[in-house]
Amino acid sequence: MSVDCRIFDRLPDGREVKAYTITNDIISVEVIDFGATVRCLFVPDKHARMKDIVFGYDTVKPYINDGKYFGKTIGQCCNRIKNGEFTLNGKSYQLEKNENGKTCLHGADEYCNKLWQSEKLNDYAVKMSYISPDGEKGFPGNVKTEAIFSIDGNVFKIEYKAVSDKDTIINLTNHSYFNLNGYNHSDICNHIMSVCARKYLPTDENNVPTGEIESVENTPFDFRIAKPIGEAIESDFEQIKKCNGIDHNFCLRQKCRDMNVPAIILAEGKSGIKMSVYTDQTGIQIYTGNFLDGTGKNSSSISKYSGVAIEAQGYPDAINNPDFPQVIVKSGEEYSSTTKFVFETM
Ligand code: BGC
Repeated sequence: MSVDCRIFDRLPDGREVKAYTITNDIISVEVIDFGATVRCLFVPDKHARMKDIVFGYDTVKPYINDGKYFGKTIGQCCNRIKNGEFTLNGKSYQLEKNENGKTCLHGADEYCNKLWQSEKLNDYAVKMSYISPDGEKGFPGNVKTEAIFSIDGNVFKIEYKAVSDKDTIINLTNHSYFNLNGYNHSDICNHIMSVCARKYLPTDENNVPTGEIESVENTPFDFRIAKPIGEAIESDFEQIKKCNGIDHNFCLRQKCRDMNVPAIILAEGKSGIKMSVYTDQTGIQIYTGNFLDGTGKNSSSISKYSGVAIEAQGYPDAINNPDFPQVIVKSGEEYSSTTKFVFETM
């Protein structure tokens, strides 16, 4: 086991961006301290060849405001907040509406465009931290956030912790896109996925949850039994058509939120790689890369459905939907979230 640190690149203002590679005899992950970002994740395929299964870039420049959030840590409150506004303790807050001037998406890109403090914790873990000042992008509280990336055997774990000096909302996630055949390979339509959810959140024309919590039964969102992602994407179900694919929160069943039963299992036949995702979060946003385009690592071309983002998190726009599990964190209280990615071959 080892953690290797090198200078990855420099930001336009000259600050150094560091890359940490955490390796054991099974897997290897590289994280950079710009945006607390997962840049590479090497896991063995069925022929014991190492495959890098996440999207990323070769330099820091394309990571700045990339709008695709390759591998980034998203905070202070990920996903969409309707009209970029909410009320807490009787006080209204106006957030930056970074998405078409209509919604606040992914915390208005705050956490993911910051250089985090970073350090090697031991031979298998790296810690990154960031303090979000009170009022930044409109969010209340000085929020101290920590991200710990670690590996153990065939497990890659991401832990987030945060504490605020004012009551606030916190919802942190990692925005890695996966392609289990390698980041530079075709699309994820043949990936077989199962999701431990009986319900999902339909969204409105701005991709904000309507407030309804719908059953997956008789819809393309029914992944209770594993099926190819392509089957759902091809459907002409209105919620799928309007998003050009899946871009929805799945409401995880209680039993799959305790880190013992997988929330998602994703598998790909050619590589034989199977990834099981365990989390303590209430939901998972699945985004099938419906509008992806451009270039990633090693000039790989990225297009629609090239990868699937699996974002364990609290429900989107929870603060404006009192019936959803809440993401309010009281002053001085600790927020924490853990997600584990377990790799096997079949
Ligand atoms: C959202 C998508 C958005 C994407 C940005 C995802 O988390 O759910 O709607 O387009 O991030 O790349």
